Amino acid sequence: TLADQAKRVAAEFDFEKDAVNKAVKEFIREMDEGLQQEGTEMSQIPTYVTAVPNGTEKGLYMAVDLGGTNFRVCSIQLHGNTTFSLTQSKVAIPRELMVAKTSKELFSFLAKQIELFLKAHHEEHYAGTLKRRETGNMEPDQEIFNLGFTFSFPVNQIGINKGMLMRWTKGFDIQDAIGKDVCALLQTEIDELHLPVKVAALVNDTVGTLMARSYTSPGKTGTLLGAIFGTGTNGAYVEKLSKVTKLTKDQNAGEYDKSTGEMIVNTEWGSFDNSLRTLPNTPYDVELDKNSVNPGIQMFEKRVSGMFLGELLRLALLKLVKDPAVPLFADDNSSSNDVHSTTQIHDSSPIWKQWGIDTSFLSTCAGDSSPGYRMLRQTLDKEYDISAVSAEDAEAVREIAGAIGRRAARLAAVAIAGIVINTGRLNKTTGTATTEQKSGIDLSRGEVEVADEDMIDVGVDGSLVEFYPNFEEHIREALRGVPDIGEQGEKRVRIGIAKDGSGVGAALIALVAGKVASPQE
Ligand code: BG6
Ligand code: GLC
Repeated sequence: TLADQAKRVAAEFDFEKDAVNKAVKEFIREMDEGLQQEGTEMSQIPTYVTAVPNGTEKGLYMAVDLGGTNFRVCSIQLHGNTTFSLTQSKVAIPRELMVAKTSKELFSFLAKQIELFLKAHHEEHYAGTLKRRETGNMEPDQEIFNLGFTFSFPVNQIGINKGMLMRWTKGFDIQDAIGKDVCALLQTEIDELHLPVKVAALVNDTVGTLMARSYTSPGKTGTLLGAIFGTGTNGAYVEKLSKVTKLTKDQNAGEYDKSTGEMIVNTEWGSFDNSLRTLPNTPYDVELDKNSVNPGIQMFEKRVSGMFLGELLRLALLKLVKDPAVPLFADDNSSSNDVHSTTQIHDSSPIWKQWGIDTSFLSTCAGDSSPGYRMLRQTLDKEYDISAVSAEDAEAVREIAGAIGRRAARLAAVAIAGIVINTGRLNKTTGTATTEQKSGIDLSRGEVEVADEDMIDVGVDGSLVEFYPNFEEHIREALRGVPDIGEQGEKRVRIGIAKDGSGVGAALIALVAGKVASPQE
């Protein structure tokens, strides 16, 4: 039957306890390898950020954020009491710019957005600009905005505001940018518009998320990890400087503050296990990779993040659609409520085209528990041109979509577990278990037994973790199954959303960078 077939396909996405454990071990091995040498699967990029904030930071900063889908410009007033106010504008990055012929096309677009933002929200900073364009000179009293640049791609960082693009990810492909300093590319375009803005810090979105989370919820031990589960996936964590030997032994490394003994490392875990030692690999994964712009790269990301899950579902559903014995979406629905109607996939259906299914559809599936899956069927009809879907078909779709989402979350747990275990945070405990209620801790999960100082804080952001129902619960289930974490360890992991955090985080880093540049402040 169709139901059996759907179960069989769903089971191909199983990623059970033993597989999770094996992958965690490999993750730890690749983490260590990446800290020691260049050119490894996980890049483990030293970020030159050596401290996380504590919530007392103050000032007005600007940040721009080039993610995978949107470009944001924001200004952030840090109030110094763990709170901030944010003014922001957001535009979708035009598809043609992601694959532009020259990087100038992309970066001049970004600078233009900064100009529009200043004009709309910071007239005082913008006023001098027009004059400056005429005279070519900076007004003597013109204030300069320090800008944090969140650039969510792998960059070989050689200083706080200098870094060379290593490779594009998430479907971007602009050849001439590779190997160039992305801060310089942006600054050139800003200068061409005579804007009073200095690119003071270059930040990966995961680093921004980590910083923002630390600022807004400074625990006694600070945040350990900032992770993105959105269009792409990646994480940045606090590492012991002594372990980052590829930096500490590098004669040509830029300046950084050694006093904290720590450095934030951008793992670029999207490329964890590109050689597939431990990652699951279904025929759908193989097909997706083969038809991507970067085959063989970002293999973890291609199984976990929003850009790809919809495509995996599409490929898996097509297998059933083409099944000669019990095809999906081809039954006569006379047994269901929709009497006399037959399911139809119209030729116009996006299901026939690469990337045709959006990952948000997986969220719709997982979130629909209505009788007969009404929402799911409606969405198939309205958005995917597949009409009169039977309850049986809907059930099959839901089963497979759920399996893909669950596998993604369990893989996400591999990365979180690897970092929690390898940083040794689980070994640090005060043993002061408490039964008092701590603010922000959900009593229902029993986290109340863990003392605040024993919590391991993880800040997350991105559309998947925000919108996919129970993503965190699936992560937790997998964490409990990892022997070195177990039920006790899982309770100590606190996962909190740092919504749009990376802008704030970039501002915080611009602040620190500004201090380094002008120590008299
Ligand atoms: C945003 C952050 O909230 O989330 C970005 O500001 C980040 O820096 C993004 O890249 C990730 O989510 P998504 O779903 O937009 O890729
Ligand atoms: C991709 C990028 C990485 C980014 C992540 C999340 O994996 O390579 O730099 O952090 O997407 O946006």
